[in-house]
Amino acid sequence: MNYIIENIVYNNVYKKNIQDKGNFGKIIPVCKESKKNEKFALKMSKEGELGQIRNEIKILKLFKGKIGSENIINLWGCDETKGYLLLDLAEKDLGDYLKEKEIGEKKVQVIMIQIINGLKFIHHLDVVHGDLKATNILYFGKSKFKICDFGRSFLLKEKKECERDLQNIGYLLKNDFYKSKMDKSPAEFSELFKKLVPNPTVTAEEVYDLLVNMKF
Ligand SMILES: Nc1ncnc2c1ncn2[C@@H]1O[C@H](COP(=O)(O)OP(=O)(O)O)[C@@H](O)[C@H]1O
Ligand SMILES: [Mg+2]
Repeated sequence: MNYIIENIVYNNVYKKNIQDKGNFGKIIPVCKESKKNEKFALKMSKEGELGQIRNEIKILKLFKGKIGSENIINLWGCDETKGYLLLDLAEKDLGDYLKEKEIGEKKVQVIMIQIINGLKFIHHLDVVHGDLKATNILYFGKSKFKICDFGRSFLLKEKKECERDLQNIGYLLKNDFYKSKMDKSPAEFSELFKKLVPNPTVTAEEVYDLLVNMKF
């Protein structure tokens, strides 16, 4: 199958689509027809769901060319009429990553720093992600993580609206990294969790500083 985005032709990498598990979208690994080694993820809307994809395109365009976006998925191209987004191709999402790997405190810190670095960047541009969870964080190999899925994101009117993302970070820490063993997690993470859930008393900026200063 051929897909044309901004006058460039892309083909499926695999005959079978292996990463087709989106709710409103569908993710297909594609490569440039002219340069097969240049791979991307093509996200396309399912029927009747163009609205969220268009919202995602609008938000991702705000990030383009801005310094500090290294932990945010990059938009390489799009077709708003068809509802196509061309994105960096990840290996897997954080949900699957955590199912496959046993990780220690240090690794939790390394991953969390990247997520919060991404969050700091979008909050600085007055964007609320709105749906932060393990399946919306992607792993690119070599300990590299990025935030994706801006379908439910919005431009905030008040800084207070950022609280929602921070609270979700709290749940991510508790449910995905430590499950119900929060009591047994290191004091540093338990303290951080208390600052995030139920009502965040810190900003992404402050969480970032707390994380980088943790010593394991
Ligand atoms: N760029 C990508 N590279 C590889 N896999 C991806 C990529 N984007 C999304 N996925 C996978 O597809 C799933 C659904 O994509 P997502 O953007 O979260 O759409 P939805 O809004 O439908 O949840 C993700 O949870 C992840 O497993
Ligand atoms: Mg998602």
